[in-house]
Amino acid sequence: MDPSQVKIPPMKDLTADNITQNVHTINSLCEDERMKYVLERLVTHLHDFARETRLSTQEWMTGLLFLTEVGKICTDVRQEFILLSDVLGLSLLVDSIGHPKPPGSTEGTVLGPFHTHDAEEITTGASMSHDPKGEPLLVVCTLKDTTGRPIPNVKIDIWETDSTGHYDVQYPGRDKPDGRCYMHSGEDGVFWFNAITPVPYPIPHDGPVGKLLKKLHRHPYRPSHMHFMFEKEGYDHLITALYLRNDPYETSDAVFGVKNSLVVDIGRAGPEYARKYGVAEDHALLTYDFVLVSDTETGDLRARNSKEALDKLGRKVKIVNGLPVPDLD
Ligand code: BEZ
Ligand code: FE
Repeated sequence: MDPSQVKIPPMKDLTADNITQNVHTINSLCEDERMKYVLERLVTHLHDFARETRLSTQEWMTGLLFLTEVGKICTDVRQEFILLSDVLGLSLLVDSIGHPKPPGSTEGTVLGPFHTHDAEEITTGASMSHDPKGEPLLVVCTLKDTTGRPIPNVKIDIWETDSTGHYDVQYPGRDKPDGRCYMHSGEDGVFWFNAITPVPYPIPHDGPVGKLLKKLHRHPYRPSHMHFMFEKEGYDHLITALYLRNDPYETSDAVFGVKNSLVVDIGRAGPEYARKYGVAEDHALLTYDFVLVSDTETGDLRARNSKEALDKLGRKVKIVNGLPVPDLD
């Protein structure tokens, strides 16, 4: 590139005091308003972090080498960067910002790295786990919108570990999916299936993220849970999970996924359930009423929350394509 064509203010004599402004200046040619804003905030916080901690060269290098290790262990089926984001609480934060929930609707939680796209469709009442050692569990759910109307024909992905706390993809010889399925809600918004009672398990901790947890004296366990993902045009994509009450890790989830509204009790089927769903009386039973939010409601709430949060920070913003950018008018 011909230096005479470069139309940005010249930078000279960069110091710890003016480096930040100079980086903003050189990045300011970016035509994408949102990217420019995100980069400007990222650089500001990164620089402030270094200034505030008086980051040493050795610590800076330790950080870079750590990220290098995180990258090296990633494969098609292992995403250590997502795991890092999970254990730092960033995944949950980003989900909460992007998918705000009005009162009464089902809250979201972390996706985790074990959702796959090869699950088989099951019909209502079928079993999604074939682990003979798991405790059989009947799961009966309803799916409604925020006005209480049932939502039919929603695609629902469901996944859980086997009774040893491993997902099918963690077995090297996996030849077909198990402990996972997808199904559709009925005309009455009801969906039900057979599964096994979830158990607690550790997140993958044989890599750099595991080492980090160890240094921090943190355990790698997630409380017993079952994952759900709901998709239907017009509704905000919901990624969530149900957590068993009184699990030993209920209040110390390694990835911060537990929310009160998602904690459930495992009950026992009474005579009516036993007859209706073809299980023995006393069979373990999980029931839950999910509530989905429309795309429009979510978009409006997200924009309102963004404005409010940035207002508090004294920033004037406008919403473009659903996301805030500085309002310079
Ligand atoms: C999971 O629940 O499958 C999970 C979530 C975050 C990190 C690892 C696993
Ligand atoms: Fe999980």
